[in-house]
Amino acid sequence: MFGPTLTGRLVVLGQPKTEFIPIYLRWFADVQVTQFLPYRHPPSVKMEEEWLENMAKSQEDVVWTILLDERLIGMVGLHQIDWVNRNCAQGIMLGERDTWNAGVGSDALLLTLRYAFLELGMEKVKGYIALPNRASLKMATRCGYREVGVHRREWYRGGAWVDRWIGEVLRDEWIAEFCGGGNQ
Ligand SMILES: CC(C)(COP(=O)(O)OP(=O)(O)OC[C@H]1O[C@@H](n2cnc3c(N)ncnc32)[C@H](O)[C@@H]1OP(=O)(O)O)[C@@H](O)C(=O)NCCC(=O)NCCS
Repeated sequence: MFGPTLTGRLVVLGQPKTEFIPIYLRWFADVQVTQFLPYRHPPSVKMEEEWLENMAKSQEDVVWTILLDERLIGMVGLHQIDWVNRNCAQGIMLGERDTWNAGVGSDALLLTLRYAFLELGMEKVKGYIALPNRASLKMATRCGYREVGVHRREWYRGGAWVDRWIGEVLRDEWIAEFCGGGNQ
C-alpha cells in the first residue's frame, strides 16, 4: 500500500511515483547513503518500477516518500506487517545528504509511528539499525524505540563486521510519551 498524505512539523509524507525513479536510483548509487542499509546495489529502472507496483499492491507494507518544502528527499515505510499479531518493522532513508541532522528523519519517523499505532492498530513496531549508525540510533531512541538486543556480526562493511541493534516501540508506551496519554 502507499500511505496517505501526512503532514508533520517539518516534512510531508506523500505517495511514491514512477517519475521519481531516477532520483531513487541516484540515492541507491550513493555509498554514503547506503552505508548502513541492507541493500547496497542500485536496481534497474524496471526493477524499481516493479518494486513500486509490488508495494502499491502489498498488504504487508505501507510506503511513503518524504518531501521537505516540496522537494523529494527520502522514503519511509512500515514493512512485514503482521495483522494477526499486530506488529511490523519500520525503515527510513534520506537520500539527500544535505538534509541530514536537522530533525527531518525524526519528524518522518514520528509520523509513521503515529500512523502505525493510531490508524493501523499496531501493538509494536520494530527497528533494526547498524550499531555504528549513530544518527539513526539517536533518531530512533528520541522517537520512542527501546533496545531489546543486538545481533552480533550481522553485516560486513568496510572490511569489518558490524553488529545490528534491535529496537522496539510498544503502543501504550509510545502513546503515553508522545500523545500525552491520550489517543491524539
Ligand atoms: C538515519 C537518518 C534517517 C537520520 O535522519 P536525520 O534527519 O539526519 O535524523 P535527525 O536529524 O532527526 O536525528 C539525527 C541525530 O543524530 C545526531 N548525529 C548525527 N551523527 C551523529 C554521530 N556520528 N554521533 C552522534 N550523533 C549523531 C544528529 O546531530 C541528530 O541529533 P540532534 O537532533 O540532537 O542534533 C539519515 O541519516 C539517513 O537516511 N541516513 C542514510 C540511510 C540510513 O542510514 N537509514 C537508516 C537505516 S536504519
